Amino acid sequence: MVAKAGSSETGSVETGSAETGSAKAGSAPLRIVLCARESQVPAWLAALRIECVKHGLDAQVSFRDAANDTVEHAALQADVALVWKPPAALFAEQRGLKLVFNLGAGVDALLAMPSFPRDVPLLRLEDAGMSEVLAEYVLAAVLRVYRGFDRYAAQQRAAQWSPLPLRERDDYRVGVLGLGVIGGAIARTLAAHGFAVRGFSRTPRSIHGVMCLAGALDPAAAPCARFLDQLDVLVSVLPLTDANRGALNAALFARLAPGAHLINVGRGAHLVETDLLAALDAGQLGGATLDVFDTEPLPPAHPFWSRPEILVTPHISAITQLAPSAQQVAAKLAAWARGEAVSGQVDRARGY
Ligand code: GLV
Repeated sequence: MVAKAGSSETGSVETGSAETGSAKAGSAPLRIVLCARESQVPAWLAALRIECVKHGLDAQVSFRDAANDTVEHAALQADVALVWKPPAALFAEQRGLKLVFNLGAGVDALLAMPSFPRDVPLLRLEDAGMSEVLAEYVLAAVLRVYRGFDRYAAQQRAAQWSPLPLRERDDYRVGVLGLGVIGGAIARTLAAHGFAVRGFSRTPRSIHGVMCLAGALDPAAAPCARFLDQLDVLVSVLPLTDANRGALNAALFARLAPGAHLINVGRGAHLVETDLLAALDAGQLGGATLDVFDTEPLPPAHPFWSRPEILVTPHISAITQLAPSAQQVAAKLAAWARGEAVSGQVDRARGY
């Protein structure tokens, strides 16, 4: 590895090796700009180097600090940008990009950037270890609610010894909204733990042990109403699109079982926050586990902080897993460089 001297914004690392050669013999190395938080760069570069060598991809990686939004006019030009929450300045600097690779699952923030090049293909990470981590988070939250831990915590504060009845798992209805790679893994995990799992998606899916329904996300429409009907827990893992912004609202909550619990690991903009607070006040919802918010970090004065029925976690349900992500990035870039079709390309019209 040749690490050229330079600041965190302009350093560069060669990842090609004499042993493996380049993806296209005789061709120039693929120029990649990695735009990430400075603290994450060394680990990413080390992982990428290993994976590029493994996949026979001759690459030259420069790095750019995602926290810096000042345009560097002399920035090294790249063919591919690997990005997570990039600043607008990146796209002003990089004028010859042929591909952008999002180092996460959700591309809503990227697509909303006016500077994001409309004509450049966008890939996103597919699973890459995230679905297992997310399924674990959701399972922990469902079990916490199912076993009444929050209610026992409240009883403890009142020095109250009072066993609560425990429902049968196969009668405890958990719905997963969004059945992509991650939603599918969540639904399978919950079903494997014996819960009565339903899933809902825009296009039909089939998952063993899960009652799958499909159609428009409209609580008044038959398939959606059937999915929501009397759910004890609703898990949202939807990607954010213009069509589903604000979908977690009063009309949807009204279809769930009284006292139901909402788990949101999709995006904060799906949730109508005032509707959630009103549903909690009315007892229509019993609680919520929220990992994503319209404004992140959640502002200190936000009412969610002080609601005992809401558990706030700071967008940690799925942290990008470095090793499998670097493996996926290198494998896909190598295939792309060979001119092969690559999965995980974002459909701009659909929004994910
Ligand atoms: C995390 O929220 C992601 O989109 O990967």
